Amino acid sequence: MSTHKTRLAIFCSGSGSNFQAIFHSLKKKQLNAEIVLCLSNRSQCGAIEFARQNGIATVHLTEKQFDSLDDFAAAMLECIRKQSIDIILLAGYMRKLPDNVVAAFQDKIINIHPALLPKFGGQGMYGIYVHTAVLEAGETESGATVHLVNEEYDKGKILMQRHVPVLPDDTSEILAARVLECEHKLYPDALEKFLAGQQS
Ligand code: GRF
Repeated sequence: MSTHKTRLAIFCSGSGSNFQAIFHSLKKKQLNAEIVLCLSNRSQCGAIEFARQNGIATVHLTEKQFDSLDDFAAAMLECIRKQSIDIILLAGYMRKLPDNVVAAFQDKIINIHPALLPKFGGQGMYGIYVHTAVLEAGETESGATVHLVNEEYDKGKILMQRHVPVLPDDTSEILAARVLECEHKLYPDALEKFLAGQQS
């Protein structure tokens, strides 16, 4: 068993509830991994706030700060390398990662999607739109998927999925809340399994 503590970066754009769930689970289970960096395209959001409160380094990085996508990707890679990051977790990060970053961290970037991929994934399928599409399709169940990230939206290898029912009176918001609750268990569980595979 490796003694190296796996260094995780988490990329977020929003409330950071999955970030919090993972953070608490790593501590509770005393896993050999820690979140050492929170990167966001927003200077203020729940995730950044939570990172600050817990002594985790934060970086605010957006394409707008750079002249080109290449410069943006280079800056992102520099942040990641400066912190000796082993694995990147996307948790509500609402931007497509530059291809250079995906290529540099092949099979080391994980994302959570609030539906049962390969259904209801791809460009434009994010946030409440996912749950509205699930309801419009008349699905009787939905769920969440943790998957590896490749150059195509939501197309990387599936690591773990969990299902929730779609109930007759569901609105998009009600379904979103049920799926999010499921995500808070799924993401830590999938990460634990992934880390066990990496560290054995
Ligand atoms: C989650 O539903 C996740 O599946 C999606 O964005 C949402 C993030 O929520 N990618 P939070 O910021 O973790 O609360």
